[in-house]
Amino acid sequence: MAEVTVQAPAKINLHLGVGPVRADGFHPLATAYQAISLTSRVTARDASAWSLTCVGHDGVDVAEVPLDDSNLALRAARLLGERVGTGRPVALHLDKGIPVAGGLAGGSADAAATLLACATLWQVDADAADLIGLAGELGSDVPFGLVGGTAAGHGRGELVTPIHDTGRYDWVVLTFDFGVSTPAAYAEFDRVHAGAEIADPEIPAALTRALEHGSAPELAAALGNDLHPATLRLRPELGEPLRAGLDASALAALISGSGPTCLFLAEDPDHAERVAAALTSYGRARIAYGPVPGAELI
Ligand code: C5P
Repeated sequence: MAEVTVQAPAKINLHLGVGPVRADGFHPLATAYQAISLTSRVTARDASAWSLTCVGHDGVDVAEVPLDDSNLALRAARLLGERVGTGRPVALHLDKGIPVAGGLAGGSADAAATLLACATLWQVDADAADLIGLAGELGSDVPFGLVGGTAAGHGRGELVTPIHDTGRYDWVVLTFDFGVSTPAAYAEFDRVHAGAEIADPEIPAALTRALEHGSAPELAAALGNDLHPATLRLRPELGEPLRAGLDASALAALISGSGPTCLFLAEDPDHAERVAAALTSYGRARIAYGPVPGAELI
């Protein structure tokens, strides 16, 4: 096999419970992830030298994506190569359908897709290579990119276990022409909570029940994001589209992860179209559904 292409999904956090900052600078999380139908593709090809190219589709602007060794996909390929002892270079090509720096784990999806693509290209036993363990070394959200579906995330987000989810949920995903840095959002969280007692984060039982029932209205009532106040302090202008989505009858509105992407839960695809139409003056409104699978060969 000379070339392998893998697709990986965006993630949203249905609930993002954040605890007090740990000694290593990370925050303990209790989060419910969902993989949604905005996807990126990574192609790994045998080559005589390492290289990385990147394009976007569906209006994704890739101008800010680093193409040097700091790129998470390139780091993922090199890490796997070191662990399985192959020195063979690959040419990586990213085709991103997940908006950049939006709180949708787009870089993590690239890394997850790259791990699976290179493992396949090099014919390494994915279980033996412990792709999920490697993914956790690369970033908190990377393991979920491999697992997909709806899943709980603990630790700093890297310890992923599937959640029973019988539903299909329609989302409006509103992105902007600015990003929010994840470390900046967590630092703001620390400032918001300075001196206050922070309880250990938990996934609410009502959320787990809503997913078991597959009920969008129940899910709407159980969504939550502890980073929401912090991100709103960094970007107060997000208040307006969040309100506009609710005024346009969205079942719920919340910030995705560290933001700035805003999520609106709809009753069905037609309803999602109507909510999206009310939001186009604020940013780019895409329609997506979840859950969808994690990284898979195509
Ligand atoms: O793991 P990842 O590289 O995605 O994390 C990026 C940054 O986000 C970390 O350096 C840290 O500042 C912040 N973070 C955190 N707690 C987490 C996950 C991320 O503080 N659980």
